[in-house]
Amino acid sequence: MTGSLFPELSLSLDDLRALQLDRLRTTLRHAYDNQAPYRAKCEAAGVHPDQLASLDDLARFPFTEKGDLRDAYPYGMLAIPRERCVRLHASSGTTGRPTVVGYSAKDIATWGDLMARSLFAGGARPGDIIHNAYGYGLFTGGLGAHYGAERLGCTVVPMSGGFGERQVQLIREFGARVVLMTPSYMLAIADEFERQGVDPRDTAMRIGIFGAEPWTEGMRAEIERRLGIDAVDIYGLSEVMGPGVACEFVETKDGPTIWEDHFYPEIVDPVTGRPVAEGEPGELVFTTLTKEAMPVVRYRTRDLTRLMPGTVTAMRRMAKITGRSDDMLIVRGVNLFPSQVEEQILRDPALSGHYVIELTRTGALDDLLVRVEARQVQEQGARLQSGAELTRRLKGMCGLSAYVEVAVPGTIERSQGKARRVIDRRPKT
Ligand code: DLL
Repeated sequence: MTGSLFPELSLSLDDLRALQLDRLRTTLRHAYDNQAPYRAKCEAAGVHPDQLASLDDLARFPFTEKGDLRDAYPYGMLAIPRERCVRLHASSGTTGRPTVVGYSAKDIATWGDLMARSLFAGGARPGDIIHNAYGYGLFTGGLGAHYGAERLGCTVVPMSGGFGERQVQLIREFGARVVLMTPSYMLAIADEFERQGVDPRDTAMRIGIFGAEPWTEGMRAEIERRLGIDAVDIYGLSEVMGPGVACEFVETKDGPTIWEDHFYPEIVDPVTGRPVAEGEPGELVFTTLTKEAMPVVRYRTRDLTRLMPGTVTAMRRMAKITGRSDDMLIVRGVNLFPSQVEEQILRDPALSGHYVIELTRTGALDDLLVRVEARQVQEQGARLQSGAELTRRLKGMCGLSAYVEVAVPGTIERSQGKARRVIDRRPKT
């Protein structure tokens, strides 16, 4: 079935590399000829698309960074006339201007195909009912997943985020087999199932395809246990396309397969920008191979991961994202990712996946507070014991002494999309 619906998945490694080189040449020329900011970078670096003879030559070309997209706000990165764009999306600018992404009709069709491929890999099948709780709007999650589900031949319920009570009601009554949302929101929905006294196993729901934020294997196990579903990882980012740049196969759940016929991945050292040795961890960099409206060459995602050989297909997989280089916390000089804290939390069956990390400063010293909810209502003594154990494990993992507060269920703010894991109250220096 995989072969007949998605023949590209059967490409041999040799054919894949030849296709990539061919598409890379076209993309580089397209960006150089039509994207003034990128052409200027190439000229400054003294490189020209004609110098690309092999895939390895790509490393000689300049990066594109988020700042380049911001500087070109709103339309400066478009490589086709704005009039030929049929859609715009934008990422919320937490710092300064948002980044705007444009799509041609062909880009939208490709996105639909790749999102359909992703959903299929994740276990969705034509005819399924898909409950889509990714946010609709400027965020790429809702509409991106929506078009893919339609393309696959599914019945989409365009629910968007929020209205927890209604989410549960419609998952039950409409009979969704597949649900789409962020993993943190799925946990909030699991609470809502509990509150309503509904066992998720009594519904038709069997698969969840989760992404848009980092989540650990511990979180996967927690979601699968609480909801009785397969939890599959989907990855993507607006600047490169949106959701569906890579997705896990439900049969293997061994890291998202990157759709390499459309996106060429590299891993570079986040500090020096130099490519790392094969299989080593670093920052993920993408070059789009087929985008018309806004190609990106060597886009620095800031996401930290490593590449692994293909299992189900010849295309490479990415390991779970450990975090973004700009989300890394420096606490008393120690580098810490929220995902490392999550991993330690979820090793304790008494603790839930609802947590938040708070940073404050007393005098010259940073204080690290981890607030996490207990899974069930417990005696204070049991909560204190879980807290003490988590403090000990965190100390063992990174050497930091954290204050841990184990809160009663329902007291930590729930996400409706991307969870906010860190509250940094330290004075800016
Ligand atoms: O979050 C696209 C998306 C929507 C992906 C729905 C998957 C599902 P942005 O808002 O541009 O796009 O945010 C992209 O989110 O660079 C990562 O840091 C993070 N991210 C996305 N998927 C994953 C994932 C969408 N599976 C940024 N694991 C990316 C870890 C992820 N982080």
